[in-house]
Amino acid sequence: MIRSDLAGVPPYVPGKKPPHALVVASNETTQGPLPSVARAIADAAGGVNRYPDMSVAALRAAIAAWFAKSAEGLRIDMDNIATGNGSTALCQQAIQATCHDGDEVLFAWRSFEAYPILSQVVGAKPVMVPLTEDHRHDFPAMLKAITDRTRLIFVCNPNNPSGTVMTHAEVLDFLHQVPQRITVILDEAYMEYDRSPEAVNAAEILRLFPNVAVCRTFSKAYGLAGLRLGYMVGGAEFIMAVNKVALPFGVNALAQAAGLASIDATDDELKDRVDATVTQRERLLQAVPEELRIPSQGNFILLPLGAQAEAVDAELKKEGVVARCFPGEGVRITATTAEETDKVIAALTPALATVGGARWGGRPQES
Ligand SMILES: Cc1ncc(COP(=O)(O)O)c(C=O)c1O
Repeated sequence: MIRSDLAGVPPYVPGKKPPHALVVASNETTQGPLPSVARAIADAAGGVNRYPDMSVAALRAAIAAWFAKSAEGLRIDMDNIATGNGSTALCQQAIQATCHDGDEVLFAWRSFEAYPILSQVVGAKPVMVPLTEDHRHDFPAMLKAITDRTRLIFVCNPNNPSGTVMTHAEVLDFLHQVPQRITVILDEAYMEYDRSPEAVNAAEILRLFPNVAVCRTFSKAYGLAGLRLGYMVGGAEFIMAVNKVALPFGVNALAQAAGLASIDATDDELKDRVDATVTQRERLLQAVPEELRIPSQGNFILLPLGAQAEAVDAELKKEGVVARCFPGEGVRITATTAEETDKVIAALTPALATVGGARWGGRPQES
């Protein structure tokens, strides 16, 4: 009775969160929503007996106005914006809107874990192109992997979980070589944390390439992961298709109110938080041996531990720190507050020394 191809889709296994553990596994913020946003959520709670606005009109209009007045200065209107139940939903809708059975969705790997799952759920074929040695997108290899069946490409920048970024010039060069019939989603879930000198300018890319859409989220910098709210900006025809395949009323009333209040919040409110997270990210990076340091522009770092990943993860768990382990590859740790970073470093330093010995700060082994 069940679609046979679902056998190849892994079921969701929630991470174990022992009571009192410090969870730095999901790239969430530790602080609650900004105070002005928390008030808007509380006010909206009184109205949840009503269905939310299915077209999410006020929020979409506010996002359009926000783009126009921000540094990006992009003139778009509501028809260029889709909102979704988290940007994960929008990624799925983008696949549904572009792919028939067996069509190909191309992306770098390792990247956002949802890409292969969402592709398979929709019946599309995930085509995963390994990152380069330095954990960045391998654009030349991705271009070579394009076939007649490629319908959609995800570019995750900063990339989760490596934290690496591509430069604006590299992305432009890549997009110039992607056939216009293929839609490219630039997934910028972590763009607020990106301090790289040649950071991607999404507005310019949207102006130049009608086949590109940009996907962002309120889950990370805005601290609204539990409310599920993301948005996508792109050409009106594509956005209409993304909206056609959406679950009706997918963006709930509290999320709509919180999104509006987040846009109204002063830039300083957000900037202070994001700056503090970036400071902790850099502290975390400095606390690990150089050979395990991958420069990150997200709110997390990845330790490329290879075969030692599970052992280090287990040591961290013993100390009550729950990180995200990719067995055989690495451990990703979210950067949060100074206090939590102190605890992470206090657990991580001995964990690396225990597993790696002298190489990672431990005592030389007696021979
Ligand atoms: C690269 C990337 N894109 C999208 C998302 C989805 O975020 P959300 O569905 O919470 O908006 C995440 C979440 O971790 C992510 O890492």
